[in-house]
Formats: sequence, C-alpha cells, structure tokens
Amino acid sequence: MENIWWKNAVGYQIYIRSFFDGNNDGVGDLVGIIQKVDYLKDLGVDFIWICPFYDSPMDDNGYDIRDYYKIDEMYGKMADLKKLIKEAHNRNIKVIIDLVMNHTSDENEWFIKSENKEEPFSDFYVWHDGIIKDGKRLPPNNWQSFFSGSAWKFSEKRKQFYLKIFSNKMPDINYENEFAFSEMEKVVEFYANLNVDGFRLDAISHLAKDRTFASVKNLKKTYIGFTNQPDNYKYLKRFKKTFLKHNLVTMGELCGFSTPKQVKKYCDEETLDMVFSFEQDDIFTDDFKINTKKLIKILEFKQKFSEKTGWAVLFWLNHDYPRLISKVRNEADAKNAQVCLAGLMYMLKGTPIIYNGEEIGMENYAFKSPDEFKDVNAKMLFENTDNFEKTFNHLKEKSRDNSRTIMQWNATKFAGFSDTEPWIFVNDNYKTCNVAKQLKDENSILSNYKRLVSVRKCCGEQILSGKYKFFSKNGIVGYRIKNTEKTIEVVANLSQKDYVLPVKKFTVIYSNFDSKTLKPYQIMICEH
Ligand code: NOJ
Repeated sequence: MENIWWKNAVGYQIYIRSFFDGNNDGVGDLVGIIQKVDYLKDLGVDFIWICPFYDSPMDDNGYDIRDYYKIDEMYGKMADLKKLIKEAHNRNIKVIIDLVMNHTSDENEWFIKSENKEEPFSDFYVWHDGIIKDGKRLPPNNWQSFFSGSAWKFSEKRKQFYLKIFSNKMPDINYENEFAFSEMEKVVEFYANLNVDGFRLDAISHLAKDRTFASVKNLKKTYIGFTNQPDNYKYLKRFKKTFLKHNLVTMGELCGFSTPKQVKKYCDEETLDMVFSFEQDDIFTDDFKINTKKLIKILEFKQKFSEKTGWAVLFWLNHDYPRLISKVRNEADAKNAQVCLAGLMYMLKGTPIIYNGEEIGMENYAFKSPDEFKDVNAKMLFENTDNFEKTFNHLKEKSRDNSRTIMQWNATKFAGFSDTEPWIFVNDNYKTCNVAKQLKDENSILSNYKRLVSVRKCCGEQILSGKYKFFSKNGIVGYRIKNTEKTIEVVANLSQKDYVLPVKKFTVIYSNFDSKTLKPYQIMICEH
C-alpha cells in the first residue's frame, strides 16, 4: 500500500466551541478536547481537524482571526494546544488545524495598520475606490458576498472600499502583496514548529482576485471574480513549498461552485493533498426517503474523483451544513439511514471525516423564532432579505446553527457538555440521544460507526487497489470492489422490502442487522 498515511485514515472534525467545555464557562475549549482524546481513540479515528481556536472577535465563530499567534482566551492558552498535540500524538492521533488564509478579522492589527495606510501594511488587503454615481458612493463592482449583500465595505478611515467576501468584519488579504504573503508563511512555519500534522485550508479557492475588478455579467455567478482565479494556483504552489518542507498534509476547502476542471487543476498541480469540494446535495425526497438516484451519483462521483483526479475528503456533514437525518421521521429508520449513508461513503477511495455529533446521530434544532440564530450568515440574510418569512423558513432547515448545537455527552443538565448554560442551544433530544447511552448499546449509531471505522481501515488495501463497480436498482444501492484476490461488496437496502443477495457464499464483514437477508435500511459489507 502507498505509504501516505492519510490515504488509509479516518478523521474527526471538532467544532471546538460546541465540543466539550473543560473549564465550565459554557464554551468548548482545548482542555475539553484533551479530556475527550480517549473517546476519540476509542472511536478509532487517526486524526482530528480542529476548527479555528485563534484569538478572534468571533464574528464568524473564529473564522475571523484577530491574532494568528494567540489562542482565544475562551479556548485556552498556547500551552493547552501544545498539550493537546502531545496527548493526541501519544495515542497515534494526528492533529490538523484550520488555517484561514483568505481573510482576517477587521480587528487584526494588520488590517488596522492597512486602514491607516501604514507601511508595509498599506496594500496588505484588497482596497479599491468606489464609483460615484448620481452623487452616491457605490462599491467598485457588483461582486456579492457569500453571506449576502455586496462583497465590498466602505472604510470611513481610509475613504476606500475593502473586499470582504464573507462578513463585513472579514477583509480579504491581498496576495499580490509580497509582504502579506510572507507574513502568512510565517504563520504556517509557526504552527509547523508546534508539531501540527497539517492544515485544513479554509476558503482556499478565493485567494486570488480578478485584478481588473470588472463587474460580473452573469448575476448568478457574482463570485467568479474571486473564485479559482488563475493566480490562485500560483499562490498555492508557493505555499506548498513550506507545507512540503514540514511534511504537512493539506485539505483544501474549495468553493462548492467550482467546476470539475478547476478542481482538477489543484490536483494536477499537486497544490492540495485532499480536497473538500462539491456542495452536499440534499439527498432526501419530499416524503423523507433517501433519493437513491442522487445518492449513487454522489458516490460514483467521489470515487471517480479519487481514482482519476485527486483525493476526496469523504464527508456527509460539517459545521456549514444542517444535520443529515432530521428529514427521516421514524427514529429507528433515521438511525439506520445514517449508518447506511456512512457505510456507503466510507468504503470509497478517499479519506472519511466524521463531524462531531454525527456518530450519535445528532439532529437539527427546532428554531422557534428568528432571533434564536447565532450565525452571522443568518443575521446577514435577515438584514438583506425582502421576504422575512421565507428567509426564516429557509434558515430553520438550512441554517449552519443546526449543526453547531452542543455535543450531547450524556443525559444530565446541558447534556454533560458543561455545568454552565452553553453559548448555544442544547437540542431537546439530548436525554435519548447522547454518547453515554450509545456507548452501552452495541446496536447504537455510535457502536456502528466504531465498527465501520475499523472495517474501513482493515479494507484499506482493497480500497486502494480495487476496481469499483456501482449498482442501484429498486432501492438496492452499493458497489463491488474487486482486485485479483477477492471481491468486497458494500450493499444497502434502501427499499421497503427484504432483499436476498444474489451471491450464495459470502462472509459478512460488517452489518448493522444480524440478518443475511437484507432488511430495509440494512447495510452489509461482505467478502466473496
Ligand atoms: C468556510 C468555513 O467552513 C465557514 O464556516 C466560514 O464561515 C467561511 N469559510 C469563512 O471563513
């Protein structure tokens, strides 16, 4: 097997704010993660990806960094990070941290100096004059922020607009500027020297901007001026040298709107090791069943991608999507649906990453009023909408806060996350859906995830060397992985009827039900 550790590894994403509160102030922290390292070891994961923990005014929960060299007070101290890295490494768990290179906080001293035109910071960000029309000052072009509204914000101090493709408080860095480049390289070096194993590179398809700053004609694509621009590959190639020097793995978050050709370029030029791309489509039908057509398309796409183009991160969830199974009405079906989806995804070529809470089947939060949303994206959508009701209904289902409610550890108050009222809601179902309960139940989602993680790793050789053949008929979905020695079959019954495998002799490696005839929502991984 190729000796690249991450090709046969399973990862776990930690949304630090909501994971575990080690000092009982209502917010998750680094000490909290340290206390749960054994839980992660027991789950069987090989690496963790920790969402940003840097000093930040928390406009976007830490993706707006004020000081790259400081840990935010609510998350702990540099010594805690060092300890976490050590404790994880002692258990053979690697540590990948989230690095935000595209933008900073407007409270970062780099920005404050830039706003004051202080050298060498003056061109550190993307500054532009506005347009004066009918006596009004307008932004330089029609580029739109991903969080809604113009992608530009006027600075009263500098009397110019700065680009901010996310929130108003997240100005974009200008990588045409050598000084900005070298400052970010220093950040990479700093964390490499702390012994991190790699980076999840946030919003990495946006580093380069169209320097003509022309307005976009196609109003459905008001992001193209700052997405996958030719120079983006050039910048990443330069950063890659530093990553290689320290043997750091990179997982790049590419914009969901990237075309296959654009994604391929990152892989051909080897600028990123793994890519997160492709928006996760809603794979449920209106009557709460899994849409097998969409499902098989996603699976085949990811597989072919890792086989022919690059290396895909295999995930169903993260902190930017609502929870997965909230659409399945019946509890038992929901549990098994999630296990089927995980099994089908994790046996593909690529690197699976579990998002905290997914392994116990956490669900969306039942929002009752618009002011319950914490996410800046939701707030900006409300500010810019002319249909409040519609936006509210959209957010109830799609808001990122759905996946950010606190991790449900046990049935005690605040779900065992903290002794203090947490920063965000506790989902109502924490008494029935929690880690402590599921650890005791060998048929729980958690127990199934543990077995799946272990099976995935045992089958690593076959996954890397095998040829895949997919099938989907009458709700029976899956694939065969064949090499010269054996065939592994992954098959899920997403129909309402029992299904008998058309193979006489097979050995079951994994199944969520104790039956050789597949029951509805049963998934089996077998060998023949
Ligand atoms: C992608 C992150 O996953 C998301 O949470 C964040 O809001 C944006 N990048 C901006 O950093």
